[in-house]
Amino acid sequence: MSDRLASLQQAVPGLRLKTDAADLEHYGRDWTRRWTPAPLAIALPGSVEEVQAVVRWANDNDVAIVPSGGRTGLSGGAVAANGELVLSLERMNKALSFDRIDRLMTVQAGMPLQAVHNAAKEHGLIYPVDFAARGSCSIGGNIATNAGGIRVIRYGNTREWVAGLKVVAGNGELLELNRGLVKNSSGYDLRNLFIGAEGTLGIVVEATLKLADPPPPGNVMLLALPSFEVLMQVFAAFRERLQLEAFEFFTDKALAHVLAHGAQKPFDEVYPYYVVTEYASNSEANEAAALAAFEYGMEQGWILDGVISQSDAQAQQLWRLREGITESIARYKPYKNDVSVRISQMPAFLDASQELIGENYPDFEVIWFGHIGDGNLHINVLKPDDWNDADFIAACEKVTKLLAQTLHDFGGSISAEHGIGLVKKPYLSSTRSDAEVAMFKGIKRALDPKGLMNPGKVFD
Ligand code: FAD
Ligand code: MLT
Ligand code: ZN
Repeated sequence: MSDRLASLQQAVPGLRLKTDAADLEHYGRDWTRRWTPAPLAIALPGSVEEVQAVVRWANDNDVAIVPSGGRTGLSGGAVAANGELVLSLERMNKALSFDRIDRLMTVQAGMPLQAVHNAAKEHGLIYPVDFAARGSCSIGGNIATNAGGIRVIRYGNTREWVAGLKVVAGNGELLELNRGLVKNSSGYDLRNLFIGAEGTLGIVVEATLKLADPPPPGNVMLLALPSFEVLMQVFAAFRERLQLEAFEFFTDKALAHVLAHGAQKPFDEVYPYYVVTEYASNSEANEAAALAAFEYGMEQGWILDGVISQSDAQAQQLWRLREGITESIARYKPYKNDVSVRISQMPAFLDASQELIGENYPDFEVIWFGHIGDGNLHINVLKPDDWNDADFIAACEKVTKLLAQTLHDFGGSISAEHGIGLVKKPYLSSTRSDAEVAMFKGIKRALDPKGLMNPGKVFD
């Protein structure tokens, strides 16, 4: 063991540390697989006190820390490639308390999202943020990225569901932020600074989450559409008539990959675009409204075909067509764009971005999907097998520069929900002004004076 680690072990007796090469590799990277992991070691604290002690030791010894959840991040936020100490929250993974009157549940930050869902269910309630990485991502990582997912249209992003946070700031101070209060007009809301900070201000150790009533029973509908242009019209027609829980789109190319991965073909014919939507179907009136929306779309020529789930199993099959996309294209090391504009700007932005992508990516397969009802597009460019990683990324970055300029013109965001991390750092200025970034730096200096919390992520 190196002198450094011996001093950490001495400062935090009983702290679990991992230093095997396989562990360094496993904990040093996230889903991007773009950087070569090279952490100093992995610390796995079991308590808030241990987290605090590790952060104090890091301050005394000038060691950078990378907070680590499930490492399902898609922006390189949890990457440790420069001798940082990875601080994994994976042992701090329990539900701590629930209050029925407040409808609040307090959990440790390393709890997997799926376990949070299950714990909420035990109380007859739901934690509504949801997406395909639910089994592996952690609530702390969700908070640090302000994760979105497939139900934002109905419930909003992670930020809406955090009533309180316990954090260890970069200077080692333990802060209890908002303490579950509904109303609290007593100065700056530091809780919201930590949400979406990607671990650059400190470590989330506990979260007090709002829970909601379960939604009414729902149905899932898969729609086939002829063109991108009608997508937003179908969305408007459905939103007017139904209580939507989700409204997600993908293309025929996306579907082809999911089918090749074992999903069941929904229609005999192939159509260019598809929507998966879920809506309340707890009354005859709701069912009639759903059929009316569908028929209206058919009459307008916006919908070419459709299927409505007749069972939970079929609903899951339809969802798999959308949720399976990320896994099904992972082997192509996709270059991921995760962009957003205001929903009202979506039709014009779709036109502009389709033109830009069509012109600039003639040789690569491009997969479009995303949370269209939130103004959030995922544009994934697949690496051809005969291209090396570096050349492929360089080619994609040229186009991202243009896309960033378009986003800037539309007042959009270069990262809707995945975070800036390392991947989107060169394009932060398309979304944030110089004055804003200067204030980011000032805030970081206040909470992390030595700059040890996830350095080099989001901004330099
Ligand atoms: P990590 O990857 O471990 O970390 C992410 C960032 O948070 C890093 O900067 C890290 O340093 C920081 N961090 C982690 N834990 C803490 C903590 N306790 N305190 C402070 N900082 C911390 N994202 C969406 O928003 N919507 C989706 O629909 C979606 N779908 C996905 C589907 C798949 C199949 C995959 C692989 C990913 C998907 N993601 C999605 C991306 C990813 O799952 C989310 O960003 C998730 O919130 C990351 O959680 P994590 O625990 O894996 O975080
Ligand atoms: C999704 O919407 O499926 C996720 O954000 C994951 C991805 O973009 O690959
Ligand atoms: Zn997404």
